[in-house]
Amino acid sequence: MTPNEFREHGHALIDWIATYRETIEERAVSRSIKPGSIRAALPKAPPRQAESVCDIMADFDSILLPGVMHWQHPSFFGFFPSNVELSSVLGDLLSTGLGMVGISWEASPALTELEETCVDWMRQMLGLGPAWRGAIQESASASTLIAIVCARERYYGRTYPLGGGRQPAEPGVVYTSARAHSSVNKTAMIAGFGVEHIRIVPTQPGGSLDTKILRAMIEEDIARGARPAAIVATTGATADTAMDDIDAVAEVAQEWGVWLHVDAAMGGAAMLLPEYRPGWEGIERADSIVVSPNKWLGAAFDSSLMFVRDHQHLIKVMGTNPSYLRTPTDGQVTQLRDWSIPTGRRFRALKLWFLIREQGVDGLSRRIRRDLANARRLAQLVEAEPEWRVLNNITLQTVCVRHEPPGVSGADLDEHTRAWVQALNESGKAYLTAAQVDGAWMARVSIGVLGTQWHHIEALWADMRSHAGQHAARLALAA
Ligand SMILES: Cc1ncc(COP(=O)(O)O)c(C=O)c1O
Repeated sequence: MTPNEFREHGHALIDWIATYRETIEERAVSRSIKPGSIRAALPKAPPRQAESVCDIMADFDSILLPGVMHWQHPSFFGFFPSNVELSSVLGDLLSTGLGMVGISWEASPALTELEETCVDWMRQMLGLGPAWRGAIQESASASTLIAIVCARERYYGRTYPLGGGRQPAEPGVVYTSARAHSSVNKTAMIAGFGVEHIRIVPTQPGGSLDTKILRAMIEEDIARGARPAAIVATTGATADTAMDDIDAVAEVAQEWGVWLHVDAAMGGAAMLLPEYRPGWEGIERADSIVVSPNKWLGAAFDSSLMFVRDHQHLIKVMGTNPSYLRTPTDGQVTQLRDWSIPTGRRFRALKLWFLIREQGVDGLSRRIRRDLANARRLAQLVEAEPEWRVLNNITLQTVCVRHEPPGVSGADLDEHTRAWVQALNESGKAYLTAAQVDGAWMARVSIGVLGTQWHHIEALWADMRSHAGQHAARLALAA
């Protein structure tokens, strides 16, 4: 493709995206797709002859678009908000257009230095102290993996002599809450902790990790000949946004000299607001934190920030220095390949830079505040309605609810919850996800898409009552 052809098709594509965003509300949030039907509509083999961009776009419209979930739709209340401000789209496009690979500072000095700058801006925006340094990682899971590997290396003393170079004979153990994201378990396994050395700590009412039980589990493990190596706490659990008491967990971590990682992938965005920071008390005692601006904040995926308190340790664990990447500036500059799993990186900071500058900290804060207020307002409506229950503390922007018709309980209630959520999703008017907490199913209303206004939430609430009511009536008839 020549630059001139790119100009022509690129303008058309930008127009397409702008119109898509302008008219997104006219679309169903999602459509029921028969598994395999999209694949069946695509050619089995690649084309031998070149095809036109117009033909490619026509197939995109007719074959792929019907199978797209519209995450940016204001009536998308599923999973978590994965906002992509259009300014961030521009930054992402610019990064792709430049097509550079940051394998070293010299490979593109601006890439490294903008990333350092944006990460430090975010540090300030989150109210973190000056000791924290960080980098952009491809996901929260990757950040947690790096944190757990750092914890493992510190525990086994392979990068720092532990007790005069002694390697502990006792196997290390990772502790996390029953509400923690599944990535904690997975990354601990990848980091080499066997299932028998990953301990799931029960939660207190309200969902925060029970530090009394954590202490008891650690003592039990020590008595059995193992030792704590890492604790992962969560600020904003995936299912119900439960917040661990970071200060209390840090107290335990400090007692045993254990690495504390805080997964604030989702909840971190709320820390833009000073009034939310009491929920992060003790954060300065952690060793690493992940916050994902590609969720609620509005930076295009992939953009997860991993902060570490001791970046020298991180570099010792992750650093490489092959001859083909050595440059005269080594030692004077940051080599971001030493902060991540991949050697190369995209110019990802551009999308964060565009976002923060175009919205300003005030604009971002206003939107986060709006969503938090909307969540509280919805919770009040739900609580006032007979047969409906709010199941979580409204710590962030997610309201977990259940419709509990009289006489329906246990497995029948689970079935009812999943059925009305499914029916609502199939209507295409909104999208919710169901999840289990403490073994029971509930519906999660995850508020926070850029375009979601109060009237979208009111419409959702009417649809929720309607679908739940219809299903309950069918259950009553069948009884
Ligand atoms: C608290 C939390 N941690 C981690 C993740 C995983 O994020 P990623 O897909 O960036 O690995 C999620 C995703 O929902 C999450 O809610």
